[in-house]
Amino acid sequence: VVEPTLTLPTGHKHGGNPWDDMQRLGVSPRDVLDFSVNVNPLGLPRRVQEAWPDLIRAAMQYPDSNSAGVISYYTRRFDLPPDAVLPGNGSIDLIYLAPRALGLTSAAVLSPSFHDYERALALAGAAVTRIPLLAKNSFSLPDTDRLSEILDQTDALVISNPNNPTGTTARAASLLSLADAHPGKYLLVDEAFVQFLDLPGRATLLTPDAIRPNILVYHSLTKIFAVPGLRVGSVVGHPETLERLRYHAVPWSVNRVADEVASILGDCGDDEKKVRELVAAEQVRIAYQLADCRKIDLFPSSANFFLARWQRQHALDLLIKGLLEEGIYVRDCRNFPGLESGYFRFCIRRPHENDRLIAALRSVAHE
Ligand SMILES: Cc1ncc(COP(=O)(O)O)c(C=O)c1O
Repeated sequence: VVEPTLTLPTGHKHGGNPWDDMQRLGVSPRDVLDFSVNVNPLGLPRRVQEAWPDLIRAAMQYPDSNSAGVISYYTRRFDLPPDAVLPGNGSIDLIYLAPRALGLTSAAVLSPSFHDYERALALAGAAVTRIPLLAKNSFSLPDTDRLSEILDQTDALVISNPNNPTGTTARAASLLSLADAHPGKYLLVDEAFVQFLDLPGRATLLTPDAIRPNILVYHSLTKIFAVPGLRVGSVVGHPETLERLRYHAVPWSVNRVADEVASILGDCGDDEKKVRELVAAEQVRIAYQLADCRKIDLFPSSANFFLARWQRQHALDLLIKGLLEEGIYVRDCRNFPGLESGYFRFCIRRPHENDRLIAALRSVAHE
């Protein structure tokens, strides 16, 4: 097992800041197509847009203290019992809440993965061990035996499924047996992107049968319904474990507008299906179109985004700048441990937008 990392709990760059990069790289300000944030490219569901004028009412009232609207999304969509769902101000709220509430003293995280798991653990006083995922293995997750060895030595294991930024997945059955073999340890699984998978059923633990005292599943409505500004997600788990989290939770963490939107999202299954079909088709098409682009390595992904590597490793700024000049913004991944040399990530958008990305990548790569 890798030695625990000394992690400074500083803030971390997320996607979605094209202006900063334009300024840094001397590109004059312009509108760009943002491929750096992995949200549903079809935008806010029509039902929510239609209800929007009425939601102004909701801003004038205190939220429902149980977030009944969010809970109704999970009971309807995943058939979960209401007491297995704890809503929060985006899944990030719960990612920061759980390590503190559970009193974790050590945990292992995948690397590269979403940085905030490490920061949340470090802020809660837990020692963090990174499990390196390697490019030569296409960043695939370690097998269950290896994960089991790691869990023997820590309080908890955090798995992003699918993993951001690699797009790799773990199977639900393997995760369940891992948790069952380690009843005293926690498995913290982040399924923020699970509804974009072609076969989400193979990966998801968001089912009544998968509820265990030692499993928590973070889930987000941000990505699948394109509502990053609303801040709404949940953690799903055993009612007794959630009670420990509730004890530490901030009151009214889900605002009333978000709570009412979440209840409407329960009727937006068609929007979910539509984007899933789009992602499945575009994954194949993008991989095919970039297959002969020798300066770019594209890693296989099951999610709605791709990790890629620019082969002129230390000149990634040239690629980012060239793309910005073509009106395209991708996520620089050099601040993920292990991805310092030329890695970037882009999300799957609508076909004509992906065409623009492909053309820009090919054009900058051939300059
Ligand atoms: C893997 C992963 N989990 C969770 C989050 C947090 O999302 P939210 O707080 O909007 O639910 C993000 C945001 O980028 C993410 O990439």
